[in-house]
Amino acid sequence: MKVILFGATGMVGQGVLLECLRSPEVDGVLSIGRRPTGRQHPKLREITHADFTDFSAIEPQLAGYDACFFCLGVSSLGMNPEEYRRMTYDFALAAARTLARLNPGMTFIYVSGAGTDSSTRGSTRWARVKGQTENDIFQLPFKAAYAFRPAYIQPMGGIVPKTAWLRALYAVLGPLYPLWKAVFPKYVTTTEQLGKAMIAVARNGAPKRVLENRDINDV
Ligand SMILES: NC(=O)c1ccc[n+]([C@@H]2O[C@H](COP(=O)([O-])OP(=O)(O)OC[C@H]3O[C@@H](n4cnc5c(N)ncnc54)[C@H](OP(=O)(O)O)[C@@H]3O)[C@@H](O)[C@H]2O)c1
Repeated sequence: MKVILFGATGMVGQGVLLECLRSPEVDGVLSIGRRPTGRQHPKLREITHADFTDFSAIEPQLAGYDACFFCLGVSSLGMNPEEYRRMTYDFALAAARTLARLNPGMTFIYVSGAGTDSSTRGSTRWARVKGQTENDIFQLPFKAAYAFRPAYIQPMGGIVPKTAWLRALYAVLGPLYPLWKAVFPKYVTTTEQLGKAMIAVARNGAPKRVLENRDINDV
């Protein structure tokens, strides 16, 4: 399986990248990011790209792939609503529309998050934006498209969150992960499990297109 990965420099994307590089199911990974991952691996190729609303300049390099794992995303905390929508909806749909046209046999997996609002009518802005992003991706002519909605994600394999407040949070919560897992098994997962589940769903499909945290753990 040949995979395109967005967000490989982030917490989720780094975990997914590690699993792709480890997995015998994945023959190659093309990472598309605004900066390099800093990793060297025979299976890894990278494109540094500036404008995530327009992929026309790199289109010739985006055909011939079986799966896309879209892990690019930002927290809505402290962000103006238009910018959050641009970096969530516009970026994901620009990538998905381009890839659906170039790779009709592709499985596209979008990472949204627990609490995403499929109705797009609820009171929480970020949840509506993520819900609309999922819904519109599902309309595209992919072989299959799925939304992954993790809740608490424990970084594994030495991955460190990028933002200071998240690093502080994980420094406190991380050592207690076995406790969270025992008490709230439906609401915690790991970067490792996310990566493994994406590879398995891309290969074998899943009975539903929205996978909540517990579904991700059950893959
Ligand atoms: N972390 C969690 O616990 C959690 C839980 C549930 C859902 N999620 C969802 O998972 C997704 C990824 O989260 P994360 O924790 O991995 O985030 P993260 O660590 O902040 O990584 C975000 C990724 O998106 C890229 N990115 C951000 N802004 C960009 C821009 N303007 N242009 C191009 N690339 C940009 C980053 O690239 P740079 O490295 O260049 O900034 C990075 O690769 C998000 O949609 C988030 O809502 C996360």
